[in-house]
Amino acid sequence: MRPIQTPKTYRVKSFGCQMNVYDGDRMAELLAEQGIQPAADGEDADLVVLNTCHIREKAAEKVYSDIGRLKREDGSSPLIAVAGCVAQAEGEEIMARAPTVKMVVGPQAYHRLPEMIRAAADGHRVTDTDMPAETKFDVLPPRRRSGPTAFLTVQEGCDKFCTYCVVPYTRGAEVSRPYADLMDEAKRLIESGAREITLLGQNVNAWSGENGKGQGVGLEGLIRDLAAIPDLARIRYTTSHPNDMSRGLIAAHGEVEKLMPFLHLPVQAGNDRVLKAMNRSHTVESYLHILEHVRAVRPDIALSGDFIVGFPGETDAEFEETLKLVDTVRYAQCFSFKYSPRPGTPAATMENQLPLDVMDERLQRLQAALNRDQLAFNAASLGKTCMVLVERKGKHPGQWLGKSPWLQSVHFEGDAAVGDLVGVEITSAGPNSLGAILRQNCAA
Ligand code: SAH
Ligand code: SF4
Ligand code: F3S
Repeated sequence: MRPIQTPKTYRVKSFGCQMNVYDGDRMAELLAEQGIQPAADGEDADLVVLNTCHIREKAAEKVYSDIGRLKREDGSSPLIAVAGCVAQAEGEEIMARAPTVKMVVGPQAYHRLPEMIRAAADGHRVTDTDMPAETKFDVLPPRRRSGPTAFLTVQEGCDKFCTYCVVPYTRGAEVSRPYADLMDEAKRLIESGAREITLLGQNVNAWSGENGKGQGVGLEGLIRDLAAIPDLARIRYTTSHPNDMSRGLIAAHGEVEKLMPFLHLPVQAGNDRVLKAMNRSHTVESYLHILEHVRAVRPDIALSGDFIVGFPGETDAEFEETLKLVDTVRYAQCFSFKYSPRPGTPAATMENQLPLDVMDERLQRLQAALNRDQLAFNAASLGKTCMVLVERKGKHPGQWLGKSPWLQSVHFEGDAAVGDLVGVEITSAGPNSLGAILRQNCAA
């Protein structure tokens, strides 16, 4: 085997969910600790990590086309590592199909990247899709850099086994990270500039742990203790499962000021038979009941959800109930997908897989309803004042972009800086963003 030079520069490209973005950041930190530098914009990197997502079909296809696109004009390729959920699910296939890939590493094994790179530099092709007993979090370097908003993985894996979903197979069983480690990582993020932390988990509200006083606590306990850190301004969490939406967590929405008024609570479908076939273990009624309670303690809460249309056997009438649910809830924003059969999942072999044109039509109708509600939610902000956390510069000179408490993108002009929390008045509302004028800069 031909030895390859040890890489001097890297690029990490993350696809899929926010947890993958978090993992991508941690891999970048790990590579930096090894003395490998981030490649400058537009420049070739010696090492490229494709941090992949396996949730829907096209996601995996995209990986192969990305691998192809990495080929340089002279026919050579950078050192390519495929990480993430496609690596976990299809590691062997990737190695067989894409000879330029030298490393395949799963979501629970990426702390071993440095030794894999050394082996790859010696000319070996290495796969590590273990779900080792030692946790990557104990090995990864401490957080040292953060923008104004940061992700923090508190819980990983899923025991729910929805019949359509690959996540329980690619991420493994539900594991909660220890309370002390999370408080420590949060403090480091805040010291490095984070003003907002989004707690992440495949079922983030299934998190449980033992707090500093030795008491067993759920996610709301962690949220309350994080809220006590003076320099942290905002807390969010995602993604939650209806079955783990505890009374304590709902109550926190009414009591913890730093917990932002936004709840992403996927429902998937508006019909109980379909929900049962999906193994969702909640009903439309129990879902609506949760929303009612959350709205009671936090009337201005922005609601968000995920939907799948065209699950095997879904009838027209059953789909109509999804539209009815949307009309009832009036979401602020949502994600909606055509059902995609995933290898190894029970739904993939169910009878009555629906044709693409049926799914297309349903998705269009659903998205029209969701877009209508998103625009209405944004339009209702007109004339209101709210706080915006400034995340970055806008496209136009002097323009800033940030987020409202309800996770709307807001742009405005004026005297501000990244990381400021500013008071603005909303003056225009589009489907995807709000325009505002600066009223007061509290951080100045
Ligand atoms: N853990 C989260 C979601 C993880 S996946 C939860 O349970 O809510 C994100 C979303 O992708 C899901 O909510 C679902 O709407 C969608 N999804 C998952 N598997 C899918 C599939 N096979 N086809 C289409 N959409 C899917
Ligand atoms: Fe997938 Fe269901 Fe687990 Fe969410 S709860 S990650 S949709 S199996
Ligand atoms: Fe995708 Fe894995 Fe996240 S499949 S959605 S990257 S958990």
